[in-house]
Amino acid sequence: MKHLLSLEQLSRADMEAILVASAEMKHARGRHACLPLVGQTWALIFAKSSTRTRVSFEVGLRELGANVIFLNSTDIQLGRGEPIKDTARVLGRMVHGVVFRTFAQADVVEFARYAGIPTINALTDEEHPCQILTDIFTFQERRGPIQGKVVTFVGDGACNVPASWVFAAAKLGFELRIAAPKAFQPPMSLLERAGFTHVHAQPTPTGEVITGSIAGKGGKIVLTADLQAAAKGAHLLYTDVWISMGKEAEAAERIHALAGYQINAALVKLAAPDALVMHCLPAYRGKEIDETTFEANAPTIFDEAENRLHTQKAIIAWLMQQSAPTSRA
Ligand code: CP
Ligand code: NVA
Repeated sequence: MKHLLSLEQLSRADMEAILVASAEMKHARGRHACLPLVGQTWALIFAKSSTRTRVSFEVGLRELGANVIFLNSTDIQLGRGEPIKDTARVLGRMVHGVVFRTFAQADVVEFARYAGIPTINALTDEEHPCQILTDIFTFQERRGPIQGKVVTFVGDGACNVPASWVFAAAKLGFELRIAAPKAFQPPMSLLERAGFTHVHAQPTPTGEVITGSIAGKGGKIVLTADLQAAAKGAHLLYTDVWISMGKEAEAAERIHALAGYQINAALVKLAAPDALVMHCLPAYRGKEIDETTFEANAPTIFDEAENRLHTQKAIIAWLMQQSAPTSRA
């Protein structure tokens, strides 16, 4: 039984297969010859708000032939404390696949273990794998292979989105720079888990810089508080909200600590001349990105949002191919 819970568990070949299928799904939209999910019902269980992920999964699953039920986690007994593993065992007998957005990564892992049906991580506190596969697809649509390119993440480098970027850089062989204050950089343990070796910290006049690489594969990671240095020559400037879902109580201190870690015209000037600017959305103008830069890059950013649909359809089709046939009709 295959699941998509983390980019950590996805091989490079699997990622490449999903990226190729994303283009095929986009091209074939509206005239799919085969509907792999006909006769199936999939459930979306969401414990956090969502616009893009919810709509793209609901539409995508229907386009692949499935029926869909949306379950707000507070409306089902899960919200009143029924264990994940019991919820999983019940749903596993009634539906054919689950898309789960929640807080702890461990809950998605436990759900997949007990449900016995394909389970997709639709965002946890630790990862957002569907988003980053989509982002890479969007980059490659415009600029070709991401391998060997430089991606600079700006802002809260310790949340789910940059963590998935770390695993992707390790697998696909590009350089990921995370520009964030020290307290908002991912831990060294995450870099090591992703497979980066020679991870070490170097003191510089602008603060400590952590680097790591993967011999022979081209993947490189740089963690720095020096935003300008991180942006220099980048092929993609990327950002995410400063206050992730669940961190609202820390809003004031985050706004204070992350002030300045913004994608704006001055930063774009430092990047490569044809650099793309992307944002997973929702965007907060005046914080992680300014209004002018956001609007100047809106065609890319909203293609990125649309591509969630195509890439997630590719993920589901890939899971169907990988999963052993179930006995349930
Ligand atoms: N980018 C993203 O996952 O958006 P939603 O929170 O709206 O799903
Ligand atoms: N880091 C953000 C991503 C939103 C899509 C959050 O978790 O809220």
